Amino acid sequence: MTAGTDVAPVVEARELRKVFGPIAAVDGISLDFTPGRIYGLLGPNGSGKTTLIRLLVGLARPTSGTARVLGTEMPERQVLGRIGYMTQADGIYADLSVVENARFFASMYGVRDRTAIEEALDLVDLGGRHSTPVEELSGGMRRRLSLACALVHRPRLLFLDEPTVGVDPALRVVFWEHFRRLAADGATIVVSSHVMDEADRCDELLLILNGRVLARGSGAQIRETAGTHDLEGAFLRLAGRAAPAAEAPPREAPPNDREGAAS
Ligand SMILES: Nc1ncnc2c1ncn2[C@@H]1O[C@H](COP(=O)(O)OP(=O)(O)O)[C@@H](O)[C@H]1O
Ligand SMILES: [Mg+2]
Repeated sequence: MTAGTDVAPVVEARELRKVFGPIAAVDGISLDFTPGRIYGLLGPNGSGKTTLIRLLVGLARPTSGTARVLGTEMPERQVLGRIGYMTQADGIYADLSVVENARFFASMYGVRDRTAIEEALDLVDLGGRHSTPVEELSGGMRRRLSLACALVHRPRLLFLDEPTVGVDPALRVVFWEHFRRLAADGATIVVSSHVMDEADRCDELLLILNGRVLARGSGAQIRETAGTHDLEGAFLRLAGRAAPAAEAPPREAPPNDREGAAS
């Protein structure tokens, strides 16, 4: 199912720029995200994914350009209450228990319905861990709790900054199944990743390098445009550093994130 042009965008950005001293972290990005789709922001570390998300959720002010989210010009703090944002660094509290964290986020979002908390914790398979202090959780469990906290108010728009880092492969599948269900229900999901092997789970990808969008489209479309079999190859080729293919150094791929890259 493709998004029709008659569907109002949930997120619109025009020539967004964010400069830190000499660095243009986001360097003129325009985009339109429509409801019910999963968008992937893919790029190596330092390419500007987190900065772009922070501009879109209204936690950073652009140097120039505009962003509209849920019909509101950003930055506008009130919009934050209507979106889900899972930060790259877990934003949960180590000295609180699992359920205390979920309750804290629920109350911040004005959610009184206790079943929403139970649902969010069950979803990430932490329903049986209510009283466990966060400091006793594994890294993957913390990621799961962060996701639950981002979902507790059932947002229609979700920004997930590298949600599956440190999450084991089986749980990754569960996460993606859930993202797909939420999108099928009409939610818009923006997921960032520096790992190409998750890209094909997105409806549309934006390959990002040096704060710019190198290419956009489905994984298949991007591979076809680049004339490569995999997205890493497409990325390198589109970045102008692929030729000749055999010599292209996988500069940006950290060795510990290569598991399961075969596709
Ligand atoms: N608050 C900041 N101050 C200065 N430089 C920053 C800041 N935030 C990000 N940057 C720089 O902007 C660039 C993009 O960073 P980031 O958006 O975190 O990339 P990514 O999420 O893709 O790894 C990097 O060069 C980073 O060092
Ligand atoms: Mg980041």
